[in-house]
Amino acid sequence: MTTILDGKKLRDEIFEELKGKIEKLSVKPSLAVILVGDNPSSKIYVNNKKKCAEKLGINSIVISYPADITEKELLNKIQELNDDKNITAILVQLPLPDHIDKFKVIDAISPKKDVDGLTPYNSGKLFAGEKPYVYPCTPKGILLMLDHYGIEIEGKHAVVIGRSNLVGKPVAQMLLNRNATVTLCHSKTKNLTEITKTADILISAVGKKVVGENMLKNNCVVIDVGIFRGENGKICGDVDFDKVAKTTSYISPVPGGVGPMTIASLMLNTFELATIE
Ligand code: GUN
Repeated sequence: MTTILDGKKLRDEIFEELKGKIEKLSVKPSLAVILVGDNPSSKIYVNNKKKCAEKLGINSIVISYPADITEKELLNKIQELNDDKNITAILVQLPLPDHIDKFKVIDAISPKKDVDGLTPYNSGKLFAGEKPYVYPCTPKGILLMLDHYGIEIEGKHAVVIGRSNLVGKPVAQMLLNRNATVTLCHSKTKNLTEITKTADILISAVGKKVVGENMLKNNCVVIDVGIFRGENGKICGDVDFDKVAKTTSYISPVPGGVGPMTIASLMLNTFELATIE
């Protein structure tokens, strides 16, 4: 029998504890979220972030720009937020329109306000095995979930599918820093199934159905980061849950697995940034 990794329940527990900690702060944390364009998914994510922040006593402002904002205007806004003592955390919702260099934008965020942990300072610390101000939200949520359920990481073979800066690369590094043996797979990986069959922990962060039946050994731990609408309009993940769950020891569902843990981590990071010196 597999155990379902319940991200919603864990998020609620984290929120409960965090609310009490935020109440005790003399200055409320303030999260500024920048949204460019009208990508419908981004709008939903940003609204969700705002609602959660408010529930927890975090000030939250959303700064929306049309898709044709110039890179310079965006960089100026980030500078303004960096200098604003009332703002403790900054998030630029990704993706950005093609005419804007996302690396320039991310690099402009002050590392002490970089709630996504994506700036070169914070990601550099992570990749050097040092402590960044905060860890990227989805990877942090995944590790919180593994730890909460008592799933051992050290010495395990963790296979990560997907090499994005938001999820694949940082989660691979975080697992490596915890002494897992890590294989990072991507769209050009040959013989994916040969590799996934050797996984003790499989993390899929692709956004397409890539993990099906007979790709895993028995009792694998499966973390599904993908979230997209299938042909029938239903929300689904990278993993063929019904078939794969028959042989796993633990598996995260979509929805209700990694998604809620990402938002829990964002709120934790916002709190943590508000308490650094
Ligand atoms: N777009 C999708 N996920 C994320 C995230 O975790 N952070 C940011 N900034 N944008 C995203």
